[in-house]
Amino acid sequence: MEVSELDKYGICDGISEIILTSGIKNPNAAPIGLIRKDNKVFIRLYKGSTTYENVKQDEIFAANVTCNPLLFVKSTFSNLENENFKYYHLNSTKIPLLKNSASSVIFRCGEIKHTEQAMTAEIIPMNAMANDYRPRAINRGLTAVIEAAVHATRYELTRNSDFLDLIDRCLETTYKCGGQREKDAAEILLNEIDEIKKRVAGGKDTE
Ligand SMILES: Cc1cc2nc3c(=O)[nH]c(=O)nc-3n(C[C@H](O)[C@H](O)[C@H](O)COP(=O)(O)O)c2cc1C
Repeated sequence: MEVSELDKYGICDGISEIILTSGIKNPNAAPIGLIRKDNKVFIRLYKGSTTYENVKQDEIFAANVTCNPLLFVKSTFSNLENENFKYYHLNSTKIPLLKNSASSVIFRCGEIKHTEQAMTAEIIPMNAMANDYRPRAINRGLTAVIEAAVHATRYELTRNSDFLDLIDRCLETTYKCGGQREKDAAEILLNEIDEIKKRVAGGKDTE
């Protein structure tokens, strides 16, 4: 399929935050930004994640478009439960997809470049499925909780407390503008932050 067709599946120019499902052997889900620019699409995966290992190994995965903040927040900190996955059969392999996503696109890797911290791959769309064409207005509570999840991954990595202030600011917007799902996602995020803080305070990290 052509890159221009990705518009129909919600992956437009710029960076699209999707849930990437990967792992032919062990299905895994994590939020990742797809970068679409000049009729090409790329991902940059930082070392240390399961997604990095899976994509490096299989060179094939699915990008799932969803506005469900619970799936974003849960898959940031741990894997999703088996009941959240379904499978796309390709030859003799099964590529995991997110159940109930608005759309899913299967990508294979083209050229891959490795640096010390990350791999960047041009990715080629192969097939796509759309499940939901309902329009959705922008909800600032949703975008803010996704932004907070990004800050949380940076806090986890750096332990820099500036990110905690940024998270609080984002979640203020979520509590003001979000629906119940966004507020529930904010609660899960705050619990995860508490866990990270405890690990920092207890010096239990092995990294
Ligand atoms: C909205 C959002 C976008 C993200 N984009 C990326 C990305 O483009 N590349 C990356 O390596 N990590 C990204 N992350 C961080 C990963 O999702 C995070 O490291 C996650 O824990 C990886 O999970 P895994 O070990 O199950 O693969 C993003 C996180 C969020 C919340």
